[in-house]
Amino acid sequence: MGNRAVKPKKTVSKSKDSSEKRVPIFIMGKKYEVPESLTIQKALEYAGFQLIRGCGCRGGICGACGTVYRFPDSYRIEVGLACQTVVEPNMYITQIPFFPANKATYDLEKLEPTGSTVMALYPEIFKCVGCGTCTRSCPMDIDVMEYISLAIRGDIAGAAELSFDCVMCGLCTARCPAEEAQYNVGILTRRLYGRHIAPRAKHVAESVENIQKKRFDKGLKTLKSMNLESLKRLYNDREIEPDMADEFWEPEDKKYIIVQ
Ligand code: SF4
Ligand code: SF4
Ligand code: FES
Repeated sequence: MGNRAVKPKKTVSKSKDSSEKRVPIFIMGKKYEVPESLTIQKALEYAGFQLIRGCGCRGGICGACGTVYRFPDSYRIEVGLACQTVVEPNMYITQIPFFPANKATYDLEKLEPTGSTVMALYPEIFKCVGCGTCTRSCPMDIDVMEYISLAIRGDIAGAAELSFDCVMCGLCTARCPAEEAQYNVGILTRRLYGRHIAPRAKHVAESVENIQKKRFDKGLKTLKSMNLESLKRLYNDREIEPDMADEFWEPEDKKYIIVQ
C-alpha cells in the first residue's frame, strides 16, 4: 500500500446501503468501519483509498492483489486475494508488495523438458522441507507442494498440469521457509510442456501452412472489398457451431474450408 498499492483520496465513498452492519478493520494500522459484505478490495476503496497498484481483474484471475492479514487474538498470518476475501471484524490488513522472487532467464527452445533443467534454473526447490505452507496459502486451492515435488522428480507434465490454475499471486512464495519461487517453477514446467511435450495440434499446423501458402488471401480480399452493411449481414447469417455439437462438426457451406 502506501506509495505502492493505494493512494489516499480526499473523499471517502459512501456505502450504497447505509443500513448494512459495519465491522471494524485496520488498514496499515488505522481503524475503519466498513460494511460487512465488502471484499478487502472494496473495503480499501470504501475507506478512501484509490487502488493504483496491486489491483487488476477484480475477479480472482490476475493475482495482483495478494494481501496479508492477521487477527489480534491469533498468532497465524493469513493470506488471500483482496478481491476475493470478504472482510472480517478486527482484520489487520496490509497488501504485500510485488514479491522480488528468483526469476530465471532462459531460451525455451534450447531447454530440455527434464528435472535437470528445473534443477539448473531453480536449484532452491531442493531446499523444500515439505511443510505444506505453500499449499495452505494458495487462494486457487492448488497443491503447490505437490507440483514442486513433481518438478523435483522430473515429472514436467504432472507439474504443468497441477500448476495450471496458478494466478502468479506470489502468496506461496511469501510464506515459503525455503525461499522458493514456486510460481516461477510452475510456469517453467508449463512452458516446457507446451513447447516440448504436448502433442502438436494437426489442425493448427494445417492452418499455419494455409496462411503461409496464402490460401486465405482471396477470401480476405473479398471481405476487404465489402461495405460495412454487407459485412454485418455476412457475419449475422454465418453458420454457428451448436453448443452441443458432435465431436466433429463442419458447416454445410464449405467454400471457406481449405482441404489439404
Ligand atoms: S512452503 Fe516451501 S518448503 Fe514448505 S512445502 Fe512449500 S515449497 Fe516446500
Ligand atoms: S501457486 Fe502460489 S502464486 Fe500460484 S496461485 Fe497459488 S499461491 Fe498464488
Ligand atoms: S485483482 Fe486480480 S486477482 Fe484480485
